[in-house]
Amino acid sequence: MRPPGRRGVPPVPPALLLLLLPLLVVLLGAPRGVGAGTGASVPAELRVRVRLPDGQVTEESLQADSDADSISLELRKPDGTLVSFTADFKKNVKIFRALILGELEKGQSQFQALCFVTRLQHNEIIPSEAMAKLRQKNPRAVRQAEVRGLEYLHMDIAVNFSQGGLLSPHLRNVCAEAADAIYTRQEDVQFWLEQGVDSSVFEALPQASEQVSLPRCGQVGDRGKPCLCHYGLSLAWYPCMLKYCHSRDRPAPYKCGIRSCQKSYSFSFSVPQRQLCLWDEDPLGW
Ligand SMILES: *[C@@H]1O[C@H](CO)[C@@H](O)[C@H](O)[C@H]1NC(C)=O
Repeated sequence: MRPPGRRGVPPVPPALLLLLLPLLVVLLGAPRGVGAGTGASVPAELRVRVRLPDGQVTEESLQADSDADSISLELRKPDGTLVSFTADFKKNVKIFRALILGELEKGQSQFQALCFVTRLQHNEIIPSEAMAKLRQKNPRAVRQAEVRGLEYLHMDIAVNFSQGGLLSPHLRNVCAEAADAIYTRQEDVQFWLEQGVDSSVFEALPQASEQVSLPRCGQVGDRGKPCLCHYGLSLAWYPCMLKYCHSRDRPAPYKCGIRSCQKSYSFSFSVPQRQLCLWDEDPLGW
């Protein structure tokens, strides 16, 4: 008699096949679902380690949204201030925002927000679609900008927050905490008015006419007195120019990299009360 063994080896039970089948379908289906989720409208983000003008290292985040045609940048200063910058290429507007931490032990509120809005010039920063394609080979590298600059801007006009969307759709989000402290300049206003922006966005600052003679806040002892306030910030690193290379194999120069810039800004603006400008203690303003 043969042992019953061989004959008795059962085939793979059909029930097991039925269990394996959905598993394969799920695995095959998953990548397709993920792919469908990454539409072109998701902003591209780049995180870079950068050296600040004072030598300290911080992390900076850069985002490009090629659909909205805008670039934004965010970094934290060593004193805790959160600085953000938005370039709106569609409206020729750039927005700087500073969230300044108050010193609670000095009776200051938790933070104070400031917004400065100025005209975005051509070629100040690379186009958003080029920015969206930037990748870095070594994310741990500390980046130091190639080109440095400093600009002084005297802000003599206030922006009405509730009308701000007429100037740039980004203003509502970026400057919400700074609704009473959004500043711009007469010369930028002139440009935007020529572009068709409604004049209801802009309001002369109350002390505009006597601003020149206002004392600097750093020299005013009385916290209730009006004065001229200064605030400085830096964009530690940003791609400001595209680099073009030449090759024998190509008929025309082609994009092969970027040049990076660091830019510092010193804003001055009038405040109705010295206490709205408590950081301005150093007579040199920084
Ligand atoms: C801002 O504009 C709105 C609408 O024009 C107006 O009602 C409001 O008074 C303005 N705000 C200030 C602070 O002037």
